[in-house]
Amino acid sequence: MIVTRHSKYCQCGRKKMKQTNFPSVFLGILACCALSVIAEDRYQFFTWEITQGTISPLGVPQPGILINGQFPGPTIEAITNDNILVNVINKLDEKFLLTWSGIKQRRTSWQDGVSGTNCAIPPNSNWTYKFQTKDQVGTYTYFPSTKIHKASGGFGGFNIAQRSVIDIPYPAPDAEFTLLIGDWYTTSHKVLRRILDAGRSLPNPNALLINGQKDAAVFTGEAGKTYKFRVSNVGVATSFNLRIQGHSLKLIEVEGAHTLQESYESFDVHVGQSATFLVTLSQPTSDYTIIASSRFTDSIVLTTTATLRYAGSNTITSLSLPSGPEANDVAWSIKQARTIRLNLTANAARPNPQGSFHYGTIPVVRTLQLANSKATINGKLRYAVNGISYLNPKTPLKIADWFNISGVFDLNTIKDVPPSPGTLAKQGTSVVGFTLHDFAEIIFQNNEKFIQSWHMDGSSFYIVGYGDGVWNSDSRKTYNLVDGITRHTIQVYPNSWSAIRVSLDNKGIWNLRSAIWERRYLGQELYLRVWNDVQSVYTESNIPPNALFCGKAKHLH
Ligand SMILES: *[C@@H]1O[C@H](CO)[C@@H](O)[C@H](O)[C@H]1NC(C)=O
Ligand SMILES: *[C@@H]1O[C@H](CO)[C@@H](O)[C@H](O)[C@H]1NC(C)=O
Ligand SMILES: *[C@@H]1O[C@H](CO)[C@@H](O)[C@H](O)[C@H]1NC(C)=O
Repeated sequence: MIVTRHSKYCQCGRKKMKQTNFPSVFLGILACCALSVIAEDRYQFFTWEITQGTISPLGVPQPGILINGQFPGPTIEAITNDNILVNVINKLDEKFLLTWSGIKQRRTSWQDGVSGTNCAIPPNSNWTYKFQTKDQVGTYTYFPSTKIHKASGGFGGFNIAQRSVIDIPYPAPDAEFTLLIGDWYTTSHKVLRRILDAGRSLPNPNALLINGQKDAAVFTGEAGKTYKFRVSNVGVATSFNLRIQGHSLKLIEVEGAHTLQESYESFDVHVGQSATFLVTLSQPTSDYTIIASSRFTDSIVLTTTATLRYAGSNTITSLSLPSGPEANDVAWSIKQARTIRLNLTANAARPNPQGSFHYGTIPVVRTLQLANSKATINGKLRYAVNGISYLNPKTPLKIADWFNISGVFDLNTIKDVPPSPGTLAKQGTSVVGFTLHDFAEIIFQNNEKFIQSWHMDGSSFYIVGYGDGVWNSDSRKTYNLVDGITRHTIQVYPNSWSAIRVSLDNKGIWNLRSAIWERRYLGQELYLRVWNDVQSVYTESNIPPNALFCGKAKHLH
């Protein structure tokens, strides 16, 4: 069956909603009208003061980035379609920006909070983000997007629950826990930045933390009850494997997609990814250990623990600790990754079945093959994608594009395929130009020995395959074109490729970056410009009235 793609508006009273990409237009219109009549979307306001403070996650005081005095920052608990306003007051001694990882910012890359879309918030000033969690449900995060601030804190959970009229494909859990797990350095982001600016590689992280603590967080539940564990990798470099003594993890969602509900003894989460599990407290009352251990770290395996405590427990279980996979067992991880599949009949944030968009039957209009590499430029360490090491212009790309400011970027800097072997990498501002609604294939080729993680802003993509060695057109024969999962961040194993397909339905300029911060800071990122010539607020919002201006646009305010 060939599925036609359409963009239709349904007009319900005074509200217009966009209905994209679902063949069941009739159902969609019904749902959209019914829902918009029921309630005006809710508003949530936050005022966040960003400060430098002292934290001691490993028992020794070190500088950290706090939000309203907290490390990690506060968790946002939202409902699908909430309007979120966050007034960020920057009390640091340097510029600051937050990005909302996986929040699609429908029609408004203006709120994405990365250098290509926003001028950073200067010290001692504030800026208010305003966006909607449109048609999203699931586990997400936010974090600082510049200057390696993320290595010092400023990150937090961003949970989006379904609206009351929407069914979820699992029994409602008794309560929820948010677990932000990531690697950690005892040195501040400023020291790390100096190392990278000097053209050197970062040392290995010192530890893994769970909610800002090592071996100390406690999650208490009652025997017989079922809990939702929202798990995110908030680190800067390290994949981890998660497991709970005596308990299995039933996967229900990754990054906004409801999965086939498989149970796992242990589960890999790569940098920038989120996964949500149900855990039933089916063991005798006791304390059980939650373990996260680093993956694909040659030299040392970092491990951290937390406690799953049954209410009333005064013992520690005598069960042995679950061991998890060998640190460098790639085959184990790929095998597991292939089991993470979309539940085609389940709905996500909308009532439409997730399988109603038959991604496997849609013709690809363009294939990008993006190969990451390590380079030396001007005697310093840099990283490149298709031979281009990204340089951040002083003017955000989005602002340059909107005001027709020339000389900031062009669409010919990066090519669709990697350069021939031996070509020297150079610096440039890579932007790939797509037409709104293009259906694209992107191959991430990793010919290096480390594990890569790629994140796309603005859209979720379908994961169609993982494979060894160098991708070629025959690799398509191995694709999952039926029930590949959608997510916003994909790992690429050492000397391997990962392939995605994506419908570029969100007009704007969107960051595509390595979630490994050394790599990103030194050039492994680019932007996708998703564009059509029709200027309309139904395809893209106007520049917000409070927009900050900098670089060549500085005179504009
Ligand atoms: C800064 O904060 C004040 C309130 O404290 C608010 O009125 C103003 O709109 C904020 N500025 C921006 C640019 O968001
Ligand atoms: C898929 O979703 C349906 C709801 O449409 C649910 O009843 C079913 O259990 C789910 N299947 C799996 C394998 O997760
Ligand atoms: C930029 O150029 C486009 C097309 O040439 C035009 O439609 C638009 O109005 C221009 N924008 C500004 C702010 O001048």
